[in-house]
Amino acid sequence: MADEDDLLDSDYAKLARLALSGRVQDSQSFLQRAASRYRERRPGLAQALKELIREAPTRASPLRRQTTVPVPVDTDSRLQLLKVETVPTVTEAPLYEATVQHALDLLLQERSEPQRLLDAGLEPTRTALFTGPPGVGKTLAARWIAKRLGRPLLILDLSAVMSSFLGRTGGNLRYVLDYAKQSEGVLLLDELDAIAKRRDDATEVGELKRLVTVLIQELDDWPSSGLLLAATNHASLLDPAIWRRFEVLLPFELPTECGRRALARRALDGRLADAETWAAAVAARFDGRSFSEIERDLLRARRDAAVSGRSLEDALCELLVAADMPHRARIQLAERLADSGLWSQRRISELTGVARDTLRAHARRRSSAS
Ligand SMILES: Nc1ncnc2c1ncn2[C@@H]1O[C@H](COP(=O)(O)OP(=O)(O)OP(=O)(O)O)[C@@H](O)[C@H]1O
Ligand SMILES: [Mg+2]
Repeated sequence: MADEDDLLDSDYAKLARLALSGRVQDSQSFLQRAASRYRERRPGLAQALKELIREAPTRASPLRRQTTVPVPVDTDSRLQLLKVETVPTVTEAPLYEATVQHALDLLLQERSEPQRLLDAGLEPTRTALFTGPPGVGKTLAARWIAKRLGRPLLILDLSAVMSSFLGRTGGNLRYVLDYAKQSEGVLLLDELDAIAKRRDDATEVGELKRLVTVLIQELDDWPSSGLLLAATNHASLLDPAIWRRFEVLLPFELPTECGRRALARRALDGRLADAETWAAAVAARFDGRSFSEIERDLLRARRDAAVSGRSLEDALCELLVAADMPHRARIQLAERLADSGLWSQRRISELTGVARDTLRAHARRRSSAS
C-alpha cells in the first residue's frame, strides 16, 4: 500500500506541474495514461478520469486556447525572432527516398493515432533532428509536417538570431522557446549548427555554453503536445550532448537517380512532348546535385525559353551540356545517355557534340563486357 501511495503522490505532483504550467494537451495525455494504469487497482478513479477526458475540449474544439502573446522580438532591433507560418504552404508533396519518407510518415501517424500509442503506454515523438547537405528538403520536411498536422510552423533560424541571443544568458532563447511551447505549433530550430559554429570565439565561449545548456534542458522537457524539429547541414559540428537528446535522428541524402528524375518530371511535365525522356536525361546529368540546385537550373531553362523565344528543348540542351564542360565530362554524359537508351546515338551526338564513333566504341565495349 505504501508503494501505491507513493505512486499516487508522484502522479499527483506531476499532474499539478503540468496543469500549473498550462500544458493542457500534456495533462490530457498524462490522465489518459493514468486511467489505464489505475484500471485494475482503482477502477473507480480510472472510470472517473476516462469520463473527464471524454468531456474535455479537444485540440479541434473551438474552446482550444488561442495564443494571444505577441511573437518575441529582439530587444534592440525590434525584429521578430521567430518566423511564424500560421498556415504553412507546400504545393506538392516533397520527394524523399523510402527510409526518410517512412520516418516522416511515422511521425505523422503517431499524431493521427494517439490512442494506439497511449494504449501501449507511449507518447508521440517530441523531438527530431534532420541532418544532411543543403537543398535536400530538411526545412521543407518541417513545413510539410506542420501542414499535414494542421498546425502553425514556427521557424527559429539560429544563424539569423544568434547575435540576439548572445549576451543575454540564455534568457532570450528561453523566452522564444516558451512562446513556441505555448503555441503548440511545430517548432523548427533551423541551422542548429549556428550555436556550435561560434564556439571558436573565446569571448563567446561562456555564453554559448549557457545557450547549449538552455537548449538541452528544453529538449529534455519538450511537451509531447508540441513537436520540436531541428535541421543542420553540419551535424558533426554539433555538441554531441545536443544531438544525443533528439529522439529521432533523420539523415537526408542527396537525391538518387530516381528522385532527380521525379523532380525533373514534375518541372517539365506538360511542357514537352517527351518530358519523361528529358527528365531521365536531366537525372543522368545532375548526379550529385541537390533537389534545390536541379530545381533552380530547370527554372532558369524555362525562363530562358520564355523570354528568348527559343524552344524549351534548346534551353534544356544548353543546360545538359554546359559550355565550359570539360571534354572528359562531356563524353561521360554522352555515354551515360547512351546507356540509358533514351535517345539514338545520332541525337546524343548532336546534343553533346561527342562523335558518334566514340559512342559506337562505347557500345561495343559494353556489349563485349556483358
Ligand atoms: N525532397 C525534395 N522534394 C522536392 N523539392 C525539394 C526537396 N528538397 C528540396 N526541394 C526544393 O528545394 C528547396 C529548398 O529546400 P530546403 O530549404 O528544404 O533545403 P534544406 O535541406 O533545408 O537546405 P539547407 O540546409 O540549405 O537549409 C525547396 O523549397 C524545394 O523547392
Ligand atoms: Mg533548410
